[in-house]
Amino acid sequence: MARQNAVITGWGFYAPSRVMTNFDLEKIVDTSDQWITERTGIKERHIAAEGETTSTMAARAARVALERARLRPADVDLIIVGTCSPDYLFPATACLVQTAIGAERAGSFDVEAACTSFVSALAIANGMIVSGAIRNALVIGAETLSRFLDWTDRGTCVLFGDGAGAVVVEGSSASVGIESTVLHSDGSKGDLLWVQGGGVKHPASKDSLAKGLHFLKMDGSATFKLAVKSMADAAEEALAAAGLKLDDIALLIPHQANIRIIEAVGKRLRFPAEKVFVNVQRYGNTSAASIPIALCEAEAAGRLRRGDKVLLVAFGGGFTWGAAVLEWWGSHLEHGQRSILDRAARALEDVVDRVRPVG
Ligand code: ACO
Repeated sequence: MARQNAVITGWGFYAPSRVMTNFDLEKIVDTSDQWITERTGIKERHIAAEGETTSTMAARAARVALERARLRPADVDLIIVGTCSPDYLFPATACLVQTAIGAERAGSFDVEAACTSFVSALAIANGMIVSGAIRNALVIGAETLSRFLDWTDRGTCVLFGDGAGAVVVEGSSASVGIESTVLHSDGSKGDLLWVQGGGVKHPASKDSLAKGLHFLKMDGSATFKLAVKSMADAAEEALAAAGLKLDDIALLIPHQANIRIIEAVGKRLRFPAEKVFVNVQRYGNTSAASIPIALCEAEAAGRLRRGDKVLLVAFGGGFTWGAAVLEWWGSHLEHGQRSILDRAARALEDVVDRVRPVG
């Protein structure tokens, strides 16, 4: 099979209809709209309704992304869900999505790197497409962290929100697509941001419940400092790997955890604030879902044009961090003719590969 690039051809997101404002939180914990706004930039977040789960939100986002890519569920080769709030320990949330959308041929698995999960899943999909192992992948970031929050802990419950974002990544002979990905981790700092309970170390028990081990715990200021340095470093590394400079980047889409972190990363990189996409004010920190949701909103706002170089950068529990550089292509709806020809050429290549005699 000829070398192909991995291109985002579809995208979609879903946010639960219930919106919780800072004023709603004032009634639950000892906090204020002023404190939350000044310290985080967050004004409101979406919270999953009873019955909504990570997989149901992921499936909704996936359907929109597939529709935009004009790809039938039956033609999906691989589904990767990046999440740290799966429906179950197993089966994987990706398997639940696979059956919900009817992707009958797809392989499915989850990736868990906390808020870096989407970038990690994108890196895997990119590698598998470029190697020729698969033709396409549905890459999803989805979270229901509201179910792991201690709603009496004002230090964490004001920060997070629920949602899902998905992209379709397809192989293409066009010279656009994902140009570089970098991933890093430091497990020695795992206890600065974690959910201890529910795994084999602390299975659910009366004791684990009494100790609140199933809640998300975070050392906010330690996380803050490391997030800024790590995201800036990863951004520079991904740019160098793509052979680009910051000036080449049309839009930076960082993980949306806190406006102060986003601004500090921009300052450290000396990157103009107007080229940084921010929507943390309306969603809070949706962990793995934050980058794909932001990507969808950036596109809808007309801030992603064909040929734009885009930099994605994430940081999360683990600690984990990473970045990706890509050239934006757009959807088949916009570039119908070329995409149809491209797809037909690839289908033909596949047929030739299959009938070519071995040896
Ligand atoms: N309302 C009012 N006061 C509060 C609240 C609140 N919601 N939360 C904390 N405070 C108080 C504290 O008790 C403290 O009071 P004290 O001085 O009397 O002790 C004071 O505010 C300052 O607390 P800090 O924790 O020092 O506040 P800080 O400025 O560091 O902001 C925050 C806290 C917003 C959590 C910040 O540290 C942060 O954003 N950290 C990074 C989070 C992050 O990026 N996570 C990313 C990964 S998430 C993932 O991977 C799942």
